[in-house]
Amino acid sequence: MDYINAERTIKRILLTQTTSTALQKIVDVLYDSFEKYNWIGIYFVKGNELVLGPWKGKQATEHTTISLGMGICGAAAKTGKIELVDNVSKDRRYLSCFLSTRSEIVVPIKRMNVVVGEIDIDSDRSAAFDKNDTAFLEKVADMLSQHI
Ligand code: SME
Repeated sequence: MDYINAERTIKRILLTQTTSTALQKIVDVLYDSFEKYNWIGIYFVKGNELVLGPWKGKQATEHTTISLGMGICGAAAKTGKIELVDNVSKDRRYLSCFLSTRSEIVVPIKRMNVVVGEIDIDSDRSAAFDKNDTAFLEKVADMLSQHI
């Protein structure tokens, strides 16, 4: 699926489903639509931590809670800025989940400028994410912000 169709599908899911069903379905759509998205999770900010919500991938992660500021996920939550890491082995902040992961993108979900969650995607390809992914995932994060 391309970005435009995936965006449409996600919009439709948010209009027609309850939040908890919608979030899992959206994670599934992202996983099924883009081959290079090998693990997708939505984390929620709860106090000083990120707590893993719906996810899809071949394996579960041991990082189901992450302190704000820890890892690439915690950095994005703390600063409210997208983290795009082309080569995770070169990033000292990286918390390893899967041996196969080469690159990662983390997109904060904000409501009224406050980070309430984030979309975390791991890829088995190096430098898998480009400006199209960034723009698309920012739109998805915007759509999700009213539902978290
Ligand atoms: N790699 C992340 C941890 C979460 S897993 O990728 C699922 C990080 O460095 O914060």
